Amino acid sequence: MNPLNHVAIIMDGNGRWGLKNKESRNEGHKAGLKTVEKVIKETINQKIKYLTLFAFSTENWNRPKKEINYLFNLLESYLSNKIESFNKKNIKLNIIGTKNFSKKLNKLLNLSEKKTAHNTILQINLALNYGSKFEIINAIKKINKNNDKINEKNLSKYLETKNIPDPELLIRTGNTKRLSNFLLWQLAYAEIFFEKKLWPDFNEKDYVKIIKKFKKIKRNFGKI
Ligand code: IPE
Ligand code: IPE
Ligand code: MG
Repeated sequence: MNPLNHVAIIMDGNGRWGLKNKESRNEGHKAGLKTVEKVIKETINQKIKYLTLFAFSTENWNRPKKEINYLFNLLESYLSNKIESFNKKNIKLNIIGTKNFSKKLNKLLNLSEKKTAHNTILQINLALNYGSKFEIINAIKKINKNNDKINEKNLSKYLETKNIPDPELLIRTGNTKRLSNFLLWQLAYAEIFFEKKLWPDFNEKDYVKIIKKFKKIKRNFGKI
């Protein structure tokens, strides 16, 4: 059985779900939060230590302003309501990506990280304004600035995911088979599951099924 310490998820398909079921993409984003809750709960059940959720990419700024505003308002109300319950459940929140949002949201994100920093049961890495190419270029710049040697260890050290083991498993919902600039370095050896269901339709059962399949995969790492 393969050990599983870190699951990364590209939560895709909210917009299509919303249009299909409620004639509104934004309703899909709202519905997607329920799946987030289910997946967090099951991740704890499965005793997985790290969960990285792709919530907003550097490329998502190209969406209509109205949708972007809706997403960040949703995030704001979700976080301000959830932080206490994260603390009760011993969940640590860590933001990856560049925090260049409104003053109010930046403050809330920093506060949420600070308030949950000592929690130990599960670390959630929420990827917000995250892009992998930008992250890697930034890491190289930092290596240069510090006159460090360029090697794998040093590069990893300057990524947003420093001190976090690489994900062994990546799940992308929404019936699309691409990485969309997500964790390109960290996913070098991950097992990848593309799920047909749209994110709001994804549930604990689907998640557990994937985990079970993952655990049985023969992971070669170049060996035979
Ligand atoms: C993913 O769902 C959530 C975000 C990118 C914020 P989408 O909004 O991309 O949903 P689809 O792919 O358009 O259905
Ligand atoms: C990836 O989904 C980003 C998130 C889930 C946050 P997108 O819907 O933005 O990806 P593309 O544009 O289809 O590649
Ligand atoms: Mg999408």
